[in-house]
Amino acid sequence: LENGVARTPPMGWNSWNTFGCNINEALIRQMADAIVSSGLRDLGYQYVVVDDCWFNPNRDSSGNLQGDPSRFPSGMQSLGDYLHGLGLKFGLYEVPLDKTCAQYFGSYPGATGSQGHESQDARQFAAWGVDYLKYDWCSPTGSITDQVNTFARMRDALAASGRPIVYSINPNSIHAKTGPQRNWGDVANLWRTTEDITNAWDTGQTNGYPMGIQNIVNVTVPLSGYAGPGHFNDPDMLEVGRGGMTDTEMRSHFALWSILAAPLLAGNDIRSMNAATQAILGNRTLVAINQDPLGLQAVQASNDGTRRVLAKRLANGDVAVALFNQGGSTTTVLTTAAAVGKAGTAFTLLDAWTGAVTNSSGAIAATVPAHGTVVYRVSGGTTGGTTTPPSSTTTLVSAA
Ligand code: GLA
Repeated sequence: LENGVARTPPMGWNSWNTFGCNINEALIRQMADAIVSSGLRDLGYQYVVVDDCWFNPNRDSSGNLQGDPSRFPSGMQSLGDYLHGLGLKFGLYEVPLDKTCAQYFGSYPGATGSQGHESQDARQFAAWGVDYLKYDWCSPTGSITDQVNTFARMRDALAASGRPIVYSINPNSIHAKTGPQRNWGDVANLWRTTEDITNAWDTGQTNGYPMGIQNIVNVTVPLSGYAGPGHFNDPDMLEVGRGGMTDTEMRSHFALWSILAAPLLAGNDIRSMNAATQAILGNRTLVAINQDPLGLQAVQASNDGTRRVLAKRLANGDVAVALFNQGGSTTTVLTTAAAVGKAGTAFTLLDAWTGAVTNSSGAIAATVPAHGTVVYRVSGGTTGGTTTPPSSTTTLVSAA
C-alpha cells in the first residue's frame, strides 16, 4: 500500500503473545520503558501495539470508540502521548465485525467493531495518535470478496484521516485451510500469511491453528514476489524469548523472519528477557538485513526438504544468504555465490551470528545444527551479472 509508511518492515512489540487479554496501561507503559532501557528502541523497535481486549463495550454518546476505563483509566490518547514522548509509536487492534478474536463483544451490534463506522473510527484513531492499526477479520464466514471490500473501506478511511498509519490486516481467519489467496499489497501494508503462531518449532500444521516456525516458513517463502517497500507478508509476531524452543530454534526463527522481510514485532516480556533473548532481538546484522531499503523478501535458491537456502538481495549489492537446516541432525548446508545472484571470484562472508568474516571464491557453506540457520552477508563480486537471484517458483492462486 502506497501510503508513505512501512517502507521497510515495521519493528516493535505486541501485547498478544505473552499477555493475551491481561493488558492495562501500566503494563504497556512499563513495556515501553523497557523497550527504551534495553536499547531495543534505538535498534528500530518502535511500534508498541496494544492487541485485543482494550475496548470499552460501549461507544460514547457521539458514537466514538472508547478504551476500557478499568484497563486504561487515563484514556487511549494519554497512552499514545506517553509512547510518543519516549520516541515510540502507538499501535492498536480492531476488528470490522462485532466480535474480536478473543470473543470480545460490544454491548450492542457495532459497539466495538468498525464496520459501518470506518470513517469515524479512523478519525478517532488519528485523534488518539495511533500510528499502526491491526485489523483482524475474525469471522468464520464471508467470502474473499467481502474481505477485500471490508479491508479496503478501512484502508480508505485511514487515508482520509490524514494521519500516516501502518495498516496491518489479518485476512487469514477464514482461509485457514487454504493459505494466502491473493496479493494484498493493494489493500494493506502488512497481511498475515497464516493462522496464529505459537512458541513451538513444528505443530504439524499446513495452515491450521496453531502454527510452528517451520510451518509458517513453508507457507511464506513462496510468497516472496508479493513483498516490497510499503507492502510485506506478515508471518506473525515473534516468539523469541517465550520458551517452547531451544536457543538454536529461536535464533533460526529470528534469522528467517529477518531475511523474509517480516515485521519484527517482539512478543516476549521485554522487562524480564534474558541475555540470550536480548542478543537475538538485538542482532544488528540481522536487523540491518531486515530493514534494508530495497525491501525485498528472500527468495528460495534451493530446498531438498532438509537443506533450504534463501537469498535476499540488499541495496548495496550484497546478498544475505540463509543456510537453514530443517532436519533433525547436524548437516552441511551449501550453495554458491552464482546460485544467489553474485558473479565473481572473490567474496567475503560475514556470519550474522558470530561476526566472523571469511573469504570465499564462490562456495557458501556452513555446518548447521538441527533446526539451525546460519546467515551470511555476502559482499564482493558483482550483482545481476550473468546470474540474478532465483525467483519464486510456486504458482499462487490468482487474485479475487
Ligand atoms: C487473532 C490474531 C492474533 C491476535 C488475536 C487476538 O487470533 O491472529 O494475532 O490478535 O486474534 O484475539
